[in-house]
Amino acid sequence: MPSAVRVVEETWDHRSIVRIVLDAPDKPVNLLTPDAVRDLGEILDRLFREPPSAIVLESAKPGVFIAGADIHVLADISGRAEAEQLARHGRDILWKFQTVRCPTFAAIAGAALGGGLEAALYCDYRIVSDHPKTRLGLPEVQLGIIPGFGGTQTLPRLIGLRPALDLILTGRQIDGRRAEKIGLADRCVPHDTFEDQVRLFVLTHPKKSRMPRHSAPFFLMRELVLALAKRGVLNKTHGQYPAPLRAIEAVRRGVGRPLSEGLRAETEQFAELPGTPECRNLIRTYFLMEKFKKLSLLPPGAPQIRMPENCAVIGAGTMGAGIAGHLASCGLKVRLKDVEAGFVQKGLRAIDRSVSGQLAKRRIRAEEARDRMARVAPALSYEPLRGAGIVIEAVLEDLALKRKVFDELEAAAPAGAILATNTSSLPISKMTDGRALRSRFVGLHFFNPVEKMPLVEVVVADETSDETRQFAVEFVKHIKKTPIVVRDRPGFLVNRILMPYLNEAVILLSEGCRIESIDAAGRAFGMPMGPLHLIDVVGLDVAEKVSQVLHAAYGERMSPCPLFERFRNEKRLGQKNAKGFYLYDGDKKYADRSIYAALPRDPGMAAVDLTDRLILSMVNEGARALGDGIVSDADTVDVGMLLGAGFPPFRGGLLRYADDRGVRTVVDRLNALADKFGGRFAPAPNLVELSLRGGRFHR
Ligand code: COA
Repeated sequence: MPSAVRVVEETWDHRSIVRIVLDAPDKPVNLLTPDAVRDLGEILDRLFREPPSAIVLESAKPGVFIAGADIHVLADISGRAEAEQLARHGRDILWKFQTVRCPTFAAIAGAALGGGLEAALYCDYRIVSDHPKTRLGLPEVQLGIIPGFGGTQTLPRLIGLRPALDLILTGRQIDGRRAEKIGLADRCVPHDTFEDQVRLFVLTHPKKSRMPRHSAPFFLMRELVLALAKRGVLNKTHGQYPAPLRAIEAVRRGVGRPLSEGLRAETEQFAELPGTPECRNLIRTYFLMEKFKKLSLLPPGAPQIRMPENCAVIGAGTMGAGIAGHLASCGLKVRLKDVEAGFVQKGLRAIDRSVSGQLAKRRIRAEEARDRMARVAPALSYEPLRGAGIVIEAVLEDLALKRKVFDELEAAAPAGAILATNTSSLPISKMTDGRALRSRFVGLHFFNPVEKMPLVEVVVADETSDETRQFAVEFVKHIKKTPIVVRDRPGFLVNRILMPYLNEAVILLSEGCRIESIDAAGRAFGMPMGPLHLIDVVGLDVAEKVSQVLHAAYGERMSPCPLFERFRNEKRLGQKNAKGFYLYDGDKKYADRSIYAALPRDPGMAAVDLTDRLILSMVNEGARALGDGIVSDADTVDVGMLLGAGFPPFRGGLLRYADDRGVRTVVDRLNALADKFGGRFAPAPNLVELSLRGGRFHR
């Protein structure tokens, strides 16, 4: 097997330069696999004995410097001793970039992540390119581990405690310019002249640098920073993610001490994490995301489908404007159509606000902001939509209105364009029945807010042609979203599963449970916000409407809680009119105690019952949706809920959670809940069948 590391010896301006070039054969990215680390070690040993004038660590892969350790290897670590050995071995080798008797340079033009960045941190200098693909970060906590090659020690010493904790605890990635600004990179240079700039930098820096560049803050300050970091982590994660807490401990035990002591502390903390349930599930989530990012319905070997440059969105409300803005951010030209100039104007203003917000946060540059706005053009008739390759309808959630739009499109749609509807729960085949355009018609369910939510449900009706399905999936990937393919049944996948959870929260309230306790149960499980708060955000009116659609389709088990009607009469719409389950005052919210007036006393339900009633409602409906063939496999259910509903990644997905808990246990628990609280908890037939077989959803 050819090595992933090669050495190029050159003379630059009479100086002997060794370029260590990473170029994993037949792989799209460079990884610090055990073999690559070993090869690197052998090269560094030789250079230790005969040091050149300078060593430059670089990559031959476009867009990637080093993507870190091999996550497959991390997934297979079988115990503490193996984890410790792996970390110590890699760290000892990379450390040689620091101790070799000549200056070492990391030339970073592409992603330098995890172990890749840790390798660069041992070098004396880091030169980075300003290309958008140049991203630097330590994403380990997102995989349930912490940096193991010294990052928790070298980074704070280089850039200071607070900024280092920010990067280590969030896994956030930063670009080249930001890296230069915070001192992580010594120089950020234009990508086009990267090689020349590296050469110049190397030749003008003939000496080793002095590490550390940042002295540790004095004792009280450091304790304060660490305590605040810990509080921040606990607030955000409710203690469910062990990795960031261990990272803080590793940093705490190293700060102000000799580096060797810190490195030992890091290894001890690191070794506790691989193989924990959180780590296993987070790694699983990573691979699941990778799989769906590449989903395709094209037959193997089929040519790529050409993506359109021009699109159209009909309806300039929240969703329409959100979709149009997102398409423009992906470089597509968009016509935004509505029936009145005032509506289109409002939609354009919403896009402008979003673009200005990103500009203010320096996520985009002024030039990009201008270009994005220039890509969205208004339309009041169908005529300007002529050149569009795809038309996405996003008018109000009203079947009659949507039918009317497709009636008009039947006559006016650009020839050959794919026609899509953005709907959250309405059956799409009802929008076009009897119309000739049915074969090129598909549902694209975007989630709100469009710019942030990564999932799109591609809804296929029986009449949707294969070409249209294939196009839709490719298009979703083209606009940088993750597709899942779902069948055309009310609520599709995500809302169908989410609704029983939200409805159960309202039923719990109707039984007298406190608003805060219900929401705390959801959050304690790991959901990003409590279910009642979520209904407030979505809008009680919207939630009630969806619940009625699902009730009509699926019957008694989806029967909306009668409290919805009371809230409608009380004009509780949620966040949008500052009055829902909570009252809103600026950024603050308070549970509205007046709701309890006509309700029974708090029954003081055990936390485990609260959680199970909420979460197992979703598990049961997820199993049912799979049994009904709404999606093709359990992975799709898991990705849908992870990306569309914020199901906690450390649980690996909804049906993975059922597996981890044990399908039989889930069925027993649902039966017990059905006896106590009603038939809606009766376990789905496929769940029962799986339990009888002693099976699982995932292998
Ligand atoms: N370990 C194992 N496989 C990895 C990997 C890693 N650290 N990083 C990338 N890969 C694999 C991907 O799974 C993908 O595999 P596939 O082709 O079999 O599907 C392949 O490399 C290409 O990656 P992809 O994400 O499609 O390329 P990209 O150009 O879009 O993005 C990165 C490149 C490096 C930005 C991205 O892959 C990434 O973020 N990787 C994870 C980095 C990470 O978390 N490192 C820390 C490890 S502790």
